[in-house]
Amino acid sequence: MKRLYFKDKVVYQIYPKSFCDSNQDGIGDFHGIISKLDYLQFLGIDYIWLNACFDSPQKDNGYDVRDYYKMDADYGTMEDFQELCSEAKKRNIGIMLDMVFNHTSTQHSWFKQALTDKEYEDFYIFKDKPTNWQSKFGGSAWKYVPELNKYYLHLFDETQADLNWENSKVRHELIKIVKHWMQIGVEGFRFDVVNLIGKPEIFMDDECGDGRRMYTDQPIVHTYLQELNKQSFGQSDKTITVGEMSSTTLKQCVKYACEEGNELDMVFNFHHLKVDYKNNDKWQLKPFNFMQLKKLLHDWQVGMQTHHAWMALFWSNHDQPRVVSRFGNDQEYHKQSAKMLAACIHLMRGTPFIYQGEEIGMTNANLTEISQYRDVESLNYYEILKQQGLSEDEVLLRLSKRSRDNGRTVMQWNHSMYAGFSEVNPWIEANPNYHEINVEAQLHDQDSILHFYRKLIQLRKQYKLIQDGTFEMLYLEHPQILGYRRFDNLNEVTVLCNFYDSDIKLDYQFSDNESIILSNYVEANNTNKELRPYEVIVSIKTSV
Ligand code: GLC
Ligand code: CA
Repeated sequence: MKRLYFKDKVVYQIYPKSFCDSNQDGIGDFHGIISKLDYLQFLGIDYIWLNACFDSPQKDNGYDVRDYYKMDADYGTMEDFQELCSEAKKRNIGIMLDMVFNHTSTQHSWFKQALTDKEYEDFYIFKDKPTNWQSKFGGSAWKYVPELNKYYLHLFDETQADLNWENSKVRHELIKIVKHWMQIGVEGFRFDVVNLIGKPEIFMDDECGDGRRMYTDQPIVHTYLQELNKQSFGQSDKTITVGEMSSTTLKQCVKYACEEGNELDMVFNFHHLKVDYKNNDKWQLKPFNFMQLKKLLHDWQVGMQTHHAWMALFWSNHDQPRVVSRFGNDQEYHKQSAKMLAACIHLMRGTPFIYQGEEIGMTNANLTEISQYRDVESLNYYEILKQQGLSEDEVLLRLSKRSRDNGRTVMQWNHSMYAGFSEVNPWIEANPNYHEINVEAQLHDQDSILHFYRKLIQLRKQYKLIQDGTFEMLYLEHPQILGYRRFDNLNEVTVLCNFYDSDIKLDYQFSDNESIILSNYVEANNTNKELRPYEVIVSIKTSV
């Protein structure tokens, strides 16, 4: 049986490259993070998940690992990382690392040896013939190697070769790596695309798709995770784990993260972040489908709850556009919609993850030229979409809505040059709206988005109900309101959100013993008979 000590915890995600640059080379680093720990303590978070920061050629910003035992020199030395762990610990913050175990960089020593040594060849997936599977970053998922006259599998960029988990030597190496970082003092792990690690016994063409159904959520993944758990993080009752699940199902996620299980503490799934994909294709635009969003959140909340499984709650990360630009209104209702979205997700059943900058309502990057982009996926799709015959303007429009760089612009600390991230031109340009949207301004404003996030974290700590009250959706059929309640035998919290910019009549009956504990309009009160644009009202009913 798992320890469920993490139900009152909140995780803050840091993209190290874009958080804070301490040595003025335009790239964020560990000392930059250390200098902001007091800020994170003020915010009230419990863990920092650091995006991949191992030694890497940085083709996919660290998700192409060259050496799992070394930190990337851009971020600092091993001593700097240890200092980060101990400084965080002083503030009751644990560090979680991002374990990219589905693949390594082709510059990893294993891959280099694979080209001449049979033993290492078996660390990867080399085949005589490719299948028709597509890489998630565009193009074929196979790359030909003339030295071996074989093809290797890469579900992502061609410099990210998939590891062969079937080989017990590979699994043993990966277990060793996790144990190593636990010894250093790391308190949690996020496992990158971990539901893709199991490959089929026979590699075949996918007659009706891009191949994903042949390698996603294979039954063997559970066996691999149980082994990894038993031999590494499961040996400590203090290590928190979350798995990133690509194109997964509820049924599988229940298995990965149920209380009685021995795989992971919780999972990320992405179905609710595809409701603005036309034809299920990230690169085709459509306005977000609110009813679908609501239904997905409902199904996952209730589904995971029914089966005693736990999930991560999130709107944003380093692979997603900014949520306020996506499901909110980053112009006229910037503040209201950022707060509404925050309350909406934080008060659900699960562990909230805040992505850096979300707590101040950072918006999409609004890049207008291809030369401003850095992300490998965006650069690949720029070419692919143009080859499909789309005009330059159309391609740039799609990128500006969907590129991962939207979430990767530098953290907006203050209104000085380069947003206070660095004194030199950063690796990716700062969003010019840092003059208005920045941490310093919001620290001084009690009514800011930042203070609202802080309050949400405090509420989770204060009310057991928010940690593990039963979830039930309200207004499931309503075209504009997302509402739900969390309850136990005695008390009840109700959350009512207006997802649109128009007033909506509210037929909710507040009872006498009910009081509002949070809202994003100053004069919210129990007698309101409507929800104003992007209004959220959180109320509590207590039986005493
Ligand atoms: C995950 C990461 C993403 C990366 C990919 C390949 O989805 O979050 O940033 O590109 O895996 O490792
Ligand atoms: Ca730096």
